[in-house]
Amino acid sequence: MYYVIGVSAIAALAGLLFGFDTGIISGALLFIERDIQLSTGMKELIVSSVLLGAMFGSLASGSLTDRFGRRRLMLVISGLFIFGTLIATLATTVYMILVGRLFIGLAIGIGSYTAPLYIAEVSPVNLRGALVSLNQLAITIGILCSYLINYSFTNTEGSWRLMFGIGIIPAILLSVGMLLLPESPRWLVKRKLLDQAKHTLRQLRRTDNVSDEIADIQNSLRVKQASFREIFSANIRPVLFLGAMLGLIQQVTGINTIIYYAPTIFQLAGFQDASSSILATVGIGVVNVLATIFAVFMLDKLGRRPLLLSGLTGMGISLLGLSLAFFSNIGSSILPWIAMSCTFSYIICFAFSLGAILWLMVSEIFPLEVRATAMGIAVFSCWFWNFVVSSTFLTLLDAVGPGGAFMIYALLCAASFVFCYYKAPETTGVTLEQIEQNIRNGLPLREIGNMASETA
Ligand code: BGC
Repeated sequence: MYYVIGVSAIAALAGLLFGFDTGIISGALLFIERDIQLSTGMKELIVSSVLLGAMFGSLASGSLTDRFGRRRLMLVISGLFIFGTLIATLATTVYMILVGRLFIGLAIGIGSYTAPLYIAEVSPVNLRGALVSLNQLAITIGILCSYLINYSFTNTEGSWRLMFGIGIIPAILLSVGMLLLPESPRWLVKRKLLDQAKHTLRQLRRTDNVSDEIADIQNSLRVKQASFREIFSANIRPVLFLGAMLGLIQQVTGINTIIYYAPTIFQLAGFQDASSSILATVGIGVVNVLATIFAVFMLDKLGRRPLLLSGLTGMGISLLGLSLAFFSNIGSSILPWIAMSCTFSYIICFAFSLGAILWLMVSEIFPLEVRATAMGIAVFSCWFWNFVVSSTFLTLLDAVGPGGAFMIYALLCAASFVFCYYKAPETTGVTLEQIEQNIRNGLPLREIGNMASETA
């Protein structure tokens, strides 16, 4: 068991890099501006170049993971991380920063698809949920590390280079780690490399008796790969829509305006210097990790829907509070604290709901035969909307002020609540095969997680 946990933890380093490289920009931006003159548009582009790369990366992921194998692709990802980090760290112009961040983004996009897939494929059934969620936990730990590094380099000359550069350490760890890890047994069977697959499974399961699992993999591979047309068939279309909507909802409710721009928001709320607003941001990173740990343990106990709906409610109320605090121009001594409390409660509510649930649900709701493409579409939707929101946030701030901007995200939260209330299924405790059966039987989205007896 420890071996497979170790294997998953090494693969989850890709999640850590995802969190680190998306989070580091919030602090680095404040310091890049000191060295290089930046317009609002250019600042938005620096933040969103990673997301552009991630969008392309996620689109290509399905076919790349099948063609090259999960392990080899993870090695390529770590190489991309190292290459992009070097360019961004040594950049002498803003364009070099953009190119470096674009490569890092490619790696993040491919990694956000491949790491959970690899972990799911090496995990034994009884540990799969926990081990896949390890990836979201790694994302939040990566974000926290980036905030801590932002904070510790606050007074260092040329600190943004160090902030970017430190990302090379987990990237090297990932590449060395992946060299030591086995290829996914599922991919090996698919490639008809049966001896290697058996050897790997024996290593992972610590037993010689792996013939049943090999037979299961062979059976599941008999399901034909769906053609593009079948993916849009009447029964599959609704789940595809649900996946794409969950990706959209995770982003348009504003999470990354806080994750990427928290120090900027805190400065707007009245925290005077860069270092105290970065310190408040570290607090955000801590509660994000803690609430994600809570989610990992509670998702199977309390169920997806209660967490999703209560999380969205809390997020909406927090955003409303944040908006009203900015609108009402409360005395400058209270505003920073109100802004901070609303931001903290928002993050907690996101982490125990949408944060973990998006990645979990997109791995649960798609029938096996369309999973690769459908999951790719949902992951792409998440990165696309992340790009839209993050690249317009500063412009929105200029246009309608922080009060107006957070009011818009609060309204989007309310609309998302209504959508999830009517459409999100409860998938706790039901097998993936049953979900697939319900979809084929044409059940409405909200009921695709029903147990067999409920659907009869
Ligand atoms: C989201 C990221 C977000 C992170 C925050 C992830 O699930 O996809 O966009 O930055 O959670 O913890």
